[in-house]
Amino acid sequence: MAAAPEILSAPEGATEFPAALAAARQAAEDCIRDALGDLRDPVAEAMRYATEGGKGLRGFLALESARLHGFSAQAALPAAAAIECLHAYSLVHDDLPCMDDDDLRRGRPTVHRRWDEATAVLAGDALQTLAFELVARCACPAQARLHLVSELARAAGVRGMVGGQAMDIAAETADEPLTLAEITVLQDGKTGALIRWAATVGPRMGDADARPLEAYAAALGLAFQIADDVLDVEGSAETVGKATRKDAAAGKATFVSLLGLEPAKRRAADLIDEACAALAPYGAEADCLRQAARFVIARDR
Ligand code: IPE
Ligand code: IPE
Ligand code: MG
Ligand code: MG
Ligand code: MG
Repeated sequence: MAAAPEILSAPEGATEFPAALAAARQAAEDCIRDALGDLRDPVAEAMRYATEGGKGLRGFLALESARLHGFSAQAALPAAAAIECLHAYSLVHDDLPCMDDDDLRRGRPTVHRRWDEATAVLAGDALQTLAFELVARCACPAQARLHLVSELARAAGVRGMVGGQAMDIAAETADEPLTLAEITVLQDGKTGALIRWAATVGPRMGDADARPLEAYAAALGLAFQIADDVLDVEGSAETVGKATRKDAAAGKATFVSLLGLEPAKRRAADLIDEACAALAPYGAEADCLRQAARFVIARDR
């Protein structure tokens, strides 16, 4: 496989969040496209399709945390592409009829709608393995690379994203509504775990203290899911790119279902303040991550 491409409009040094996000998204998409090469079978086509058109926030977090720890965008790009592959896999499976049963994702038919369920299951599986293939190529010491790989496995698995997804599905038919503490654990798993991994790529590559970025990402991840749950109530499918007004009918356990819309929004705003405060050790160098945090609750998709 070819080496990671040189990024021309690199996020390196870019302090403006929108430009940095766009550059990170493009770089991750190019890296994934490169990894898939000229494969044209339906599973590979579905993998390409599933990794296009997202916001690219997790890949951006990986590159930005790497930059803060002195690693170039080129060195960290395999980690950014890896987390976008893992995230895309989680969405492909999340949309399946046996999960959230959605027909629209990123403004286009979901993978099982565009192809079929078997292709969607297999494309998700292969996106997950591609994520590990990619992260093993990060340009950092072997011990740090191993740490990145094992932490990604943990974040994606039953103690992380998959565990949270299982709680999310179980909550739909629970006899009693979940408590705030239970919803926090659920969302910290299904959404927070991958965001935490992404935001700690830099300190892991450099074997540095990951605690400030861990704290940033823990608050950011919860706020991110609250914003997603608010968009389900207030957004339109045209803008959000996926069906809205589904969570309440499905019996999803969310901050919005438990607290109501306005208290949930206030909680998200408090979490963003917490996330920004956790960046204090990085000073002004972390301004782009602060902008990212504000974007998370201001976004319309
Ligand atoms: C959607 O994530 C799934 C959640 C964890 C809420 P994003 O809102 O980041 O989705 P894309 O990647 O931009 O489509
Ligand atoms: C999904 O949460 C989180 C994942 C792990 C994929 P949602 O089910 O709320 O995400 P959307 O709204 O379908 O994007
Ligand atoms: Mg879901
Ligand atoms: Mg869903
Ligand atoms: Mg949602």
